[in-house]
Amino acid sequence: MPAQLLDGVALSKKIRTEIAARGAIVTAKGVRPGLAVIVVGENPASQVYVRNKVKACEDVGFHSVLERYSAELGEKELLARIATLNTDPAIHGILVQLPLPEHIAAERVLEAISPEKDVDGFHVANAGALMVGQPEFKPCTPYGCMKILESIDYPIRGARAVIVGASNIVGKPMAMLLLQAGATITICNSKTRDLAHHTKDADILVVATGKPKMITGDMVKTGAVVIDVGINRLPDGKLCGDIDFDAVRYIAGWITPVPGGVGPMTITMLLMNTLEAAEKASKPSSSL
Ligand code: GUN
Repeated sequence: MPAQLLDGVALSKKIRTEIAARGAIVTAKGVRPGLAVIVVGENPASQVYVRNKVKACEDVGFHSVLERYSAELGEKELLARIATLNTDPAIHGILVQLPLPEHIAAERVLEAISPEKDVDGFHVANAGALMVGQPEFKPCTPYGCMKILESIDYPIRGARAVIVGASNIVGKPMAMLLLQAGATITICNSKTRDLAHHTKDADILVVATGKPKMITGDMVKTGAVVIDVGINRLPDGKLCGDIDFDAVRYIAGWITPVPGGVGPMTITMLLMNTLEAAEKASKPSSSL
């Protein structure tokens, strides 16, 4: 029997309805959730992602601004822009789309964003808070993957979870969230020996490598939950994930499609983080 599809579009729709309702409540109190999205350079994928993020804000009634800069923008200018947004009361979330051009130090830029407005959860203060089990903002992609598992009531406690890819954006925070939910974690990276030995052991397999279709049917345990974070464009223009979907769907118990799986959930959780930042800003104590 083929795996059940984990439909990120349908789940997003449900969560975004809740977000819009909570957004309307905080807006009625005079605090309309606002997100600033900054993109530097012409990376075509980034251009699509940022447009989708801003459009999602409009759809749930949030305020949003999209600032597009040429690849020649200096780091100083970018830092100055972030400093202004940090004190802008109409903006509750600031997102700088990665990757940045090479002459800009991404870590300096991410540290310049006020942790209270760091809706990506990439600031070291937020990464550290997640590490010790007191997250403020969970990074959007791993947060979306957790929501997908929650949607099927998957028993994470005691499960074996294997994450392929150890990035700061996905792999490492994914490991922290699954660990805190009681899973036993393995994080694989590009140097891992005998990758299949690890992936075949996984009850929950999360893959974020950027390598098209690298996880084949023989690398997956029968009945596993398989979550594909990859979005790759093939030479024929079609999109595919890091999982060989057509083979793995006959082995796994559940699987996310690409597109339509994790992608929409990442944006949904960005909206959730922006909403929560605005809700915090609307509380009397934070306006003192
Ligand atoms: N580039 C790829 N994924 C992300 C993300 O979640 N946030 C940002 N800011 N940049 C990215």
